Amino acid sequence: MDKLLDCKKFTKESLMELLELASKIKAHPENYTEELKNKVIAVMFFEPSTRTRMSFEAAIQRLGGKMIVTENGKENSSARKGETLEDTIRVLDKYADAIVMRHSRDDAAIAADKVSRVPIINAGSGKAEHPTQALLDVFTIMNKRGSLDGTKLAILGDLKYGRTTHSLLQLISLFDNIEVFGLSKKEFMLPQEYIDYLSSKGIKYTVCESFDDLPRDIDVLYHTRIQSERFEGDFGKEEFIINKAVLDTFTDKAMVLHPLPRNEEISTDIDDDPRAMYFEQAENGMYVRMALLKDILAGK
Ligand code: NCD
Repeated sequence: MDKLLDCKKFTKESLMELLELASKIKAHPENYTEELKNKVIAVMFFEPSTRTRMSFEAAIQRLGGKMIVTENGKENSSARKGETLEDTIRVLDKYADAIVMRHSRDDAAIAADKVSRVPIINAGSGKAEHPTQALLDVFTIMNKRGSLDGTKLAILGDLKYGRTTHSLLQLISLFDNIEVFGLSKKEFMLPQEYIDYLSSKGIKYTVCESFDDLPRDIDVLYHTRIQSERFEGDFGKEEFIINKAVLDTFTDKAMVLHPLPRNEEISTDIDDDPRAMYFEQAENGMYVRMALLKDILAGK
């Protein structure tokens, strides 16, 4: 792979190949400690992050690479002095062998790629895309189910501004017999363009109004936080909260995923339930990012 701007570039085959590499790395990380030797990666975050940034940094170090970091690019980089993203990239591409970046612009990764001489890896762009999160989401689902085909996926929370679901829907669409259900407050419903996208892939999208509308044999309950930093006004808190009583209306095969951070949408009373997999999901992020960095910078 030469870069990762969005999820459009994946075929089922290329995605599976990357997930298989992530599985190998997860099983034997000690075999991959020299992959990024002599490589310098720029890690540039213009929006807050804990998991994505730290797991990228851990991934780089575990692969033997070095990094240069702006962890609060909006305040601490020259963006504060009015420098454009494009100018920043035109400089960083002289210092680093790849640029991992998060930015509030929906088109940030594409704009950066237009001027960059080194690979751009999108670590979150506005409300549009979060491809590495989608990779670790499908990796987690595959590990639990054995396959992604036939997955019954429910997406919950902020389906309008949440970039993680927007990217996940694209990756899950590569598989067969997928069904998607959406449960959110009306202010946060999935935009029509994604419903149209699913339908162009032959995938049925069902809008639900309560937990009762979801099939009991759901495979994945993928909840998300209301992205209050992305809109003006106050639409209140999440209405659809997964707690023990709600989770127990589904079967044992249901897995609860969340990109984190959570607010009130997942109650801590399910944290010890084996179906609650969000911390394992966060752990998987590091291995998937190791696989991606190796693929882009050191080949297969
Ligand atoms: C998500 C993001 O940044 O889009 N976080 C993450 O990367 N795990 C979700 C969120 O912030 O709600």
